[in-house]
Amino acid sequence: MSAKRVVWITGASSGIGAALAEEMAQNGWQVAASGRNPDRLAAVCARAPEAIRAFELDVTDVEANASVATAIENTLGPIDLAVFNAGVGSGFSVDRYDANDVFDRMRVNYGGAVNGIGAVLPAMLERGAGHIALTASVAGFRGLPGGGPYSASKAAMIALAESLKLDLTGRGVDVSVITPGFVRTPLTDKNRFPMPFIIGVDDAARRMRRGLEARRFEITFPRRLSYFLKLLQRLPYALYFPIIRRVAGL
Ligand SMILES: NC(=O)c1ccc[n+]([C@@H]2O[C@H](COP(=O)([O-])OP(=O)(O)OC[C@H]3O[C@@H](n4cnc5c(N)ncnc54)[C@H](OP(=O)(O)O)[C@@H]3O)[C@@H](O)[C@H]2O)c1
Repeated sequence: MSAKRVVWITGASSGIGAALAEEMAQNGWQVAASGRNPDRLAAVCARAPEAIRAFELDVTDVEANASVATAIENTLGPIDLAVFNAGVGSGFSVDRYDANDVFDRMRVNYGGAVNGIGAVLPAMLERGAGHIALTASVAGFRGLPGGGPYSASKAAMIALAESLKLDLTGRGVDVSVITPGFVRTPLTDKNRFPMPFIIGVDDAARRMRRGLEARRFEITFPRRLSYFLKLLQRLPYALYFPIIRRVAGL
């Protein structure tokens, strides 16, 4: 059992999750790092061998989520904070619409978070203490061109977080939703379009840790992009569609 606060991070074998694991470890947390790829997970653990432990997991597997949560609590102690961060991106074209591929984004991004919450929430409620965070995206603020499946999965995560925040009022369990703009990771390396205000992964991890430690509901960055998209979010369709068409050159 660890005397430190315990954080479980999914999608910790790469990109934002890996950087967050290291950032949390450097700031006194015991980290349980999950992902499917054992080699990449081992490399993340090697960044702070005392403080990061690997727990292999495919987030789409409901039972595996429960088993991993139990394994973490049995070896490290109660999970104080769970960051459901595993996710898949990639573009989308209406000319190559494939229902399985479209749904896959929902299964991993939203479904993974749903499964993770199911694995930690009962124990957190019993203890009357805990913190659940979902890594969504600014892409979930509104439907964006070329990103329907991804935006839909992230919008679902934001709505779920908002509802949970209300439902968990007075129960001792906090909820956060993280909505990053563009962060340089293997996920965005595939993008072939301009990514305004893109930031580095360590910067993103630092902003996430600070927001999580402050137990803020919304952790959004970089604000220049996020606030612009929030402004668009408030526009009526009669303005939103022409503006986005113009920005995207459609
Ligand atoms: N990069 C950005 O600009 C950006 C912006 C906003 C939000 N986000 C969100 O941030 C999160 C992390 O993205 P990233 O940019 O760091 O991407 P990344 O480098 O591609 O990392 C994705 C992570 O998700 C894990 N993962 C994918 N499918 C999984 C599955 N079925 N089961 C378990 N783990 C799975 C991967 O691990 P394995 O392959 O080892 O399973 C990997 O650790 C995602 O939710 C993404 O949507 C990213």
